[in-house]
Amino acid sequence: MDIILIIKEYIKKLSENYKNESTDHYDFWNEHIKYVYIESIKLAKKYNADIEIVSLAALLHDVALIKKVGTKKEHHINGKIIADEILTNYNYPKQKKEKVLNCIMNHRSSKNATTKEELCIADADILSHFDNIPMQFDLAFNKFNKNLYNVREFLLDWFEKDYNDLSDETKQEFKTRYQEICKIVLGK
Ligand SMILES: [Fe+2]
Ligand SMILES: [Fe+2]
Repeated sequence: MDIILIIKEYIKKLSENYKNESTDHYDFWNEHIKYVYIESIKLAKKYNADIEIVSLAALLHDVALIKKVGTKKEHHINGKIIADEILTNYNYPKQKKEKVLNCIMNHRSSKNATTKEELCIADADILSHFDNIPMQFDLAFNKFNKNLYNVREFLLDWFEKDYNDLSDETKQEFKTRYQEICKIVLGK
């Protein structure tokens, strides 16, 4: 079977386990990873990046969180270690594996990206938020204790920060969408 399909099934299964066993019952696959996966492939096509590397990195970039290994602060480092073990088990070629691992290591900001593939993952991680606005409301209400009267301001800041974290290239393409979200969803 294709390595991407194998890893996709593996991550879906891990996500299902997380959903059933954790206290927050967060659905990593449906609320986050699938969006990062879709957006990263679109960006890879746009920027002529390696689609296989980008696909695997998108699927594995938050594996440490889904497996509940270590802290959130270090999930890129632990994720790299876990992904290394997984890909090595499937005899994935070393050179390609290193590229996937570097995407995971540098996924937390487009400013850290050193290759087109790394940039696709960092940007797609952010774009996933724009694809899933209900989740941002859920976070605001349930994690950050916002209410109807302060949620707009909170999310305007939240999306502004997200937008500013995008690479300059991706910012250009998403400017209109970002402005529409602010206007239509948040009334600004
Ligand atoms: Fe992450
Ligand atoms: Fe992520």
